[in-house]
Amino acid sequence: MFPYTNDPLHNTSVKLIECRNLETAYVKSLHRPILNGIDCQINPGEFVVLLGLNGAGKSTFLKSLVGLVPLVKGEIIVDGIKITPHTQSQVRRHIGMLFQGGGLIRQLTAVENVLCGRLGARNSGQTLFGFPKRDRLLALELLEQLGLKDQAYQKTGQLSGGQQQRVAIARALIQSPQILLADEPITGLDVVASQQVMQTLADLNTQHGLTIITVLHDLGIAAEYAHRAIILDAGRISYDGNCDNLQTQFSQALSLETSPTSTK
Ligand SMILES: Nc1ncnc2c1ncn2[C@@H]1O[C@H](COP(=O)(O)OP(=O)(O)OP(=O)(O)O)[C@@H](O)[C@H]1O
Ligand SMILES: [Mg+2]
Repeated sequence: MFPYTNDPLHNTSVKLIECRNLETAYVKSLHRPILNGIDCQINPGEFVVLLGLNGAGKSTFLKSLVGLVPLVKGEIIVDGIKITPHTQSQVRRHIGMLFQGGGLIRQLTAVENVLCGRLGARNSGQTLFGFPKRDRLLALELLEQLGLKDQAYQKTGQLSGGQQQRVAIARALIQSPQILLADEPITGLDVVASQQVMQTLADLNTQHGLTIITVLHDLGIAAEYAHRAIILDAGRISYDGNCDNLQTQFSQALSLETSPTSTK
């Protein structure tokens, strides 16, 4: 069993994430704020794909959900808790994040990278004495469940891109999040590795009730796995709905002349 406590049926009447009129500071080079009035709500157990052209604000939006982006207007409420500097660390305990580009330490082994996901839960004194056995066992269990048992003690720099992405997923999962934010988890991966990573996310969503918000650029894969698409354009939401006819929705939302299969 994966170690989360999330019950998809829990709290269905309460929105898991509420974003009200999010606005970041004005950026001179863009002639606008990066996030420019974002309103949306995410329900428990949803699998949401975040789409948009380069620079639309997708990564900034994901980071804002863990309090990493200063807002000049608006508020974000996660599981009933408003994000403030005071509540930030409490909120982050609910949320695992896969950053764009992975963010693994190449010189460390897979299991050591997964254990890095526990650093936020331990003080520096505790870290000096190493991780407790139960954390190590949990890290190994997660790697095994993600199909990486044999790679657990290999340096992550020696793993394939798809394997590295699954190590990053294990690292995000070790803190038992309710929500997983994944920024371009399959960019740069081949077709097989992309399907494996997406299937891993889908299993976490359907079998374990994890709420997933992921940035993708491939509209076909987005429609195959996600239930709901949010399309960002210049820091605003220009489409929020189901994934039917996603290519047409994408072109219309961004006023594009052609219907691309990929947004890059
Ligand atoms: N700290 C910052 N200061 C100023 N501008 C920034 C900052 N961070 C991001 N930007 C700008 O904000 C815009 C949105 O960036 P963001 O990384 O959120 O885009 P994105 O939609 O994730 O794009 P991509 O698809 O390329 O990953 C970009 O134009 C970027 O250059
Ligand atoms: Mg980005």
